[in-house]
Amino acid sequence: MTSDSAIPASESVVVVAAEPAFEPAAAAVARRLGLPLLAVDAWRGGAGGPVVLWWDAEGLALRGSAASRARPVRPVRPLAARAGRDPLLRAVGRWEEVLDATAGLGGDAATLAAAGRQVTLIERNPVLAAVLADALGRWRADGVGAAGRMRLVSGDARDHLAAAAADVVFLDPMYPEPPGGGRARTRERAPARRRAPARKAEGPHLLRLLAGDDDDQDELLAVARRAARHRVVVKRPRHAPPLAGRTPNGVLPGRTVRYDLYAPEEVDP
Ligand SMILES: C[S@@+](CC[C@H](N)C(=O)[O-])C[C@H]1O[C@@H](n2cnc3c(N)ncnc32)[C@H](O)[C@@H]1O
Repeated sequence: MTSDSAIPASESVVVVAAEPAFEPAAAAVARRLGLPLLAVDAWRGGAGGPVVLWWDAEGLALRGSAASRARPVRPVRPLAARAGRDPLLRAVGRWEEVLDATAGLGGDAATLAAAGRQVTLIERNPVLAAVLADALGRWRADGVGAAGRMRLVSGDARDHLAAAAADVVFLDPMYPEPPGGGRARTRERAPARRRAPARKAEGPHLLRLLAGDDDDQDELLAVARRAARHRVVVKRPRHAPPLAGRTPNGVLPGRTVRYDLYAPEEVDP
C-alpha cells in the first residue's frame, strides 16, 4: 500500500473539462474512475481538491488548484532525440524487453521506447494509469512509432511480476519525502540561481499527492529480482541509500540520480 501521505483518489480528485465540448468525454472518465465531475467555473472559483484530472484539447492531464496557476501536467511524447546517450539506456544495457514497474507519467518508459526498447508500463494509481492510457492512445493515432512499443498495464506490479518475466525490470519508486516535507521529489538541488521556476515542480508534486511514498518498495525489489532475466535497474537520488538496504551489484552514477543494478535472483524450480 502507499503511505498515508497519498490522497485517496476516490475522495479528493475531481474531473474538470476545460471547455463544454470536452464535458461528455470528461464525464465518461469520471464515471469510469468513480470520481466527481466539477464545472470549470467552480474550479476557477476555488472548488475541488489539490489534484484535478483535467480534460482539454490535448486530452487528459493532471492539474492543481486554479490558485496554483500551474499548467496541466501530462506525459511527454517520446522523441527519438531524447534517446541520445541517456544514462538510463546505459543502465538498461543492450536488452530489448523492459518492464517499467513504476510507470508514473511514463517519462522513463518514453525514453526507453524512443531508443527502440519494448516497454511494458505498470502503474497502480488509477488516475495516473488513465492519463497514461489516454496519452498512449493519442500518440498511436498520431503515428508516433515509439508508442507502438509501449504497452500499459493498470495494476500493482507486485501482482503482475509474480507471473511475468522481462529482460530488465526497471524501478523508480517515490523517494520518501525529507523530514519537514519538501515540495518536490528529493533530488540534489541545483544552485539557487540555476533552479527551475517553481511551476516546473508541479509534476512531481502532483505525482506525490497521488502516489504517496510507495512504502512497499523493498518488496517490489524482491519480486523484480525474481522476474528479471538479466538485471533490475533502480533509479535513486544520487546520495540516497540503496533500496531495501541491498547493496547493488553495480552502480552507474549520474549528476543528480544514480542507477543501481541488481542481478536476478534464482527462483527455485
Ligand atoms: C516516481 S514515480 C515514477 C516516475 C516515472 N519513472 C516517470 O518517468 O514518470 C513512481 C510511480 O510508481 C508507481 N508505483 C509504485 N509502486 C508500484 C507498484 N507496486 N505497482 C505499480 N505502480 C507502482 C506509483 O504509483 C508512482 O506513480
